[in-house]
Amino acid sequence: MKPRELKRNIYCVGAIDWDRRLFDSLIPLPDGTSYNSYLVKGTGKTALIDTVNPPMKDVLLENLDLLEVKNIDYVIFNHAEPDHSGSIREVLAKYPEALAVCTEKCKGMLIDRFMVAEDRFKVVQDKETLSLGDRTLEFIHAPWVHWPETMLTYLREEKILFPCDFFGSHLAGTDIFVRDAGQEYEAAKRYWAEIMMPFRLQIQKNLEKIKEYQIEMIAPSHGPVHDVPKFIIEAYRSWAFDQPGNIVVLPYVSMHGSTRKMVEYLVSALAARSVTVKQFDLAVADIGKLAMALVDAATIVIGTPTVLIGPHPNAAHAAFLANAIKPKAKFASIIGSYGWGTKAVEQLAAMIPNLKVEIIPPVICKGFPKEADFQALEALAETIAEKHKAAGLI
Ligand code: FEO
Repeated sequence: MKPRELKRNIYCVGAIDWDRRLFDSLIPLPDGTSYNSYLVKGTGKTALIDTVNPPMKDVLLENLDLLEVKNIDYVIFNHAEPDHSGSIREVLAKYPEALAVCTEKCKGMLIDRFMVAEDRFKVVQDKETLSLGDRTLEFIHAPWVHWPETMLTYLREEKILFPCDFFGSHLAGTDIFVRDAGQEYEAAKRYWAEIMMPFRLQIQKNLEKIKEYQIEMIAPSHGPVHDVPKFIIEAYRSWAFDQPGNIVVLPYVSMHGSTRKMVEYLVSALAARSVTVKQFDLAVADIGKLAMALVDAATIVIGTPTVLIGPHPNAAHAAFLANAIKPKAKFASIIGSYGWGTKAVEQLAAMIPNLKVEIIPPVICKGFPKEADFQALEALAETIAEKHKAAGLI
């Protein structure tokens, strides 16, 4: 994609990655992504904010040539992760007078990863400013969105926030601005669930910190630019601060149908009590959709058969994921089946120490579920509904 003007003398010069389907060899990208880089020209100096993923560095360098950029004074690194910083060596080589501007922690990480000479850096403190002449960049330290070194860059005169990953979305597209709010909400929520949610408490502080800034536009380094910033700020505040909803997320695996029968029964019993259930067959589920569902869930119930005494590996994966991304669920339970012996409950329960949940007694059946097992599932549904009511969620 050729350069596009965001505002007078502010250009999008990054790359769109339409075909990427996996991030960090882990996170599904159903809609591709973009690596946004922004060129900001002032009357005195020129700055580049973030770079691009190394395989797409030529797009960035060609865009700078198309704009006939002969000089860059500052390359701002809001974040050290290579999808934004990975072209540092090429950009600094092309513009030998440029200084890499970042936090002290970011500087160390960039030297560790890319072996950049120490004298190419300018470290900035929280709220420090750099003048570009008629424009001023202010740097807002914002650790843990989503690494410890992260900062945001605020262009004072135009009131544009460049927050790198914060408020971003993995969404490839030709529109500079958000034009399909539904699609953007879904992509941003997926991004929140997978990338930001583990740092929810630190993000609460950063959301409070940016309240003092007038923000008319948010230009993240993934996905479209928010020309209605209230939309994404309110979504983030809701995901970060609000109570979970009256929702049970039920990831499960079934090998011979016993656990599936239990899942079907429990889902009906919960629905009959006006509890929303989101059910995921882990053999085929998009793990990103499961992460998104966990954002608002009050209760997590994992369904698993017993394999070699423990939980099915797919159920263990779901428990590991939930433990890692730290959703705000309040309750958890386990349902499942076994043939001759099981330690699935003990092993799964030990895998979720990060979840601050009350464990509701599991329901585990021997062989195919029978009347007593269905009664136990009915009781489990009743307990979950009562807990949701007591928490004010119904
Ligand atoms: Fe888009 Fe944390 O990198």
